[in-house]
Amino acid sequence: MLKTTSCGSLRSEDAGRSVTLAGWVHRRRDHGSLIFIDIRDRDGLTQVVFNPEVAPDAHAVAESFRGEWVIRVTGEVQARPQGTENTGMSTGDIEVIAAEADVLNESLTPPFYINEETDVDELLRMRYRYLDLRRSSMRDTMILRHKVVKFMRDFLDERGFLEIETPILIKSTPEGARDYLVPSRQYPGSFYALPQSPQQLKQLLMVAGVEKYFQIARCFRDEDLRTNRQPEFTQLDLEMSFVEEEDILSLTEQLYTEMIETLTPEKKLTKPFPRLTYREAMDKYGSDKPDLRYGMELEDLSDFARKSDFRVFTSAVQNGGVVKGFAAPGLASYSRRQTDALIQFARDRGATGLVTIALQGEPGSLEELTEDNIRSAASRFLSVEQVREIGERTNAAIGDMILIVAGPEKTTNLVLGELRHELGQRLELADPDEIKFAFVVDFPLFEHDEEREAWDAVHHAFTSPKPGYEQYIESDPGKVLANCYDLVGNGEELGSGSIRVHNRALQERIFKVLGYDEEQVEERFGQLVHAFEYGAPPHGGIAPGIDRLIMMLANRDNIRDVIAFPKTQNGTDPLFGAPGKVDVAQLDELGLKLDFAKS
Ligand code: AMO
Repeated sequence: MLKTTSCGSLRSEDAGRSVTLAGWVHRRRDHGSLIFIDIRDRDGLTQVVFNPEVAPDAHAVAESFRGEWVIRVTGEVQARPQGTENTGMSTGDIEVIAAEADVLNESLTPPFYINEETDVDELLRMRYRYLDLRRSSMRDTMILRHKVVKFMRDFLDERGFLEIETPILIKSTPEGARDYLVPSRQYPGSFYALPQSPQQLKQLLMVAGVEKYFQIARCFRDEDLRTNRQPEFTQLDLEMSFVEEEDILSLTEQLYTEMIETLTPEKKLTKPFPRLTYREAMDKYGSDKPDLRYGMELEDLSDFARKSDFRVFTSAVQNGGVVKGFAAPGLASYSRRQTDALIQFARDRGATGLVTIALQGEPGSLEELTEDNIRSAASRFLSVEQVREIGERTNAAIGDMILIVAGPEKTTNLVLGELRHELGQRLELADPDEIKFAFVVDFPLFEHDEEREAWDAVHHAFTSPKPGYEQYIESDPGKVLANCYDLVGNGEELGSGSIRVHNRALQERIFKVLGYDEEQVEERFGQLVHAFEYGAPPHGGIAPGIDRLIMMLANRDNIRDVIAFPKTQNGTDPLFGAPGKVDVAQLDELGLKLDFAKS
């Protein structure tokens, strides 16, 4: 190789060694006649000293060095003079006294600093991704990502899993998003679709007798992008035969626990992972992916509300709805304007209103509560005793604000869940170094889409009903619980899975509820239902998203920061200029003509 040693590896015990380093000029300082260069490679930095009296030729070359030039230096390792050590640098005890140096390549001045973690416009970073990836935080994230994937592979290999690749050019594999289509040249008018996940393929591998499969699988979904969503992303896709829900959950828990304890031991991990039913999660947190790092649990106040004289409360309950609320710590100091904005936040999400009760005053217990402490538009409908009762039930203290929504259960949970999440972030209630996982289980199999007046699968069409619920598939779909589970962590959905249907008749009953006729089932899912007739074993699996996991481990709040070459929020790649135009000749070959009249 062009170098003998990496730039991050030299220590004081290496003093006296002759080494050759190659890398980029990270920083250059001229001190009188001495030139100091920090040379950088993927492994770290080493300080090199160019002394015109020791090596005049090398010194002359170093005079030409500029930031990000690629250089090579040979010299002797020496302990740094006492008092000049740099404890902030792993190689801070030594320096290399240059004897020879040459330039391997020059560099233009980069459009942003590589050697500083300053905020840089994201478009610029993405346009020059190859420079952005040189920056230490991006480099560290890529290294962590590599280690995570390697850990997963080793862990599953030790347990007898086979890693099997599945096609990228395939047919529509619905997971609830739009497909990316690829036109076929040989069959004009026909299209491949990129897999939204390898779901059916991994089930076919179970029919094939693979028993334990996994893949670091790329998935493609044409959907609106967010800070935790990319159009192509990566899953640890896994599937096992002859298993029950508990087997998949305990395997996942063991993998995640061992991985985090090994790779990011600085994280505070709570174990074992609690299991919450979907019902409990919605009741207590108003969300199926609650952040469990803080409290602010929702309290059902319906029984109290029913007895009150407050019309907003009583009418909600009389109409079959609920009254629920929670206390936000320290929020009593919110101004009128801030409080109005919270009310608007609730309205924007479908609530008819939000009752706020600020318990103003020096922080203290509710026993000291008087009329003077209470600021609320509803105060004339509620006595001090009643406010105290609400306060006690929501675990409030003086200084807090109680937020209450009255209305249909679904909207009330949703609005309070989003308020809880929003305030959790605003008040910085979560410790960023803490990780709180949970499994959410017992999801419903179907959910009703009011607009289309149709049933959708909550997870996907291949999920099996829980024992005892099969009989309600046609008569009361909304009642059926599924053998389906989510891994959630710190308020994110990190993975989903289920025990699958493995029997054609049952699968067809589910398809029917979802509105597919026989022809559509044959056209879209024929491969799977036919396979079920050739001895399909009971099977199930899970697919944790890898990008979201890395976000959590690397404390990143943007998924683009954990992917080497991501797409922008608008689905573009500014580096390659994708998506891009193609030649008319290419379109002709595919039998395609562009018609923009519709767009
Ligand atoms: P699901 O669609 O729930 O399940 O996806 C599983 C996990 O993948 C991650 N994920 C995403 N990450 C980044 N960007 C996206 N656009 C995106 N969409 C999903 C999430 C999610 O929890 N085949 C089933 C799994 C199974 O049943 O085994 C599936 O794909 O972390």
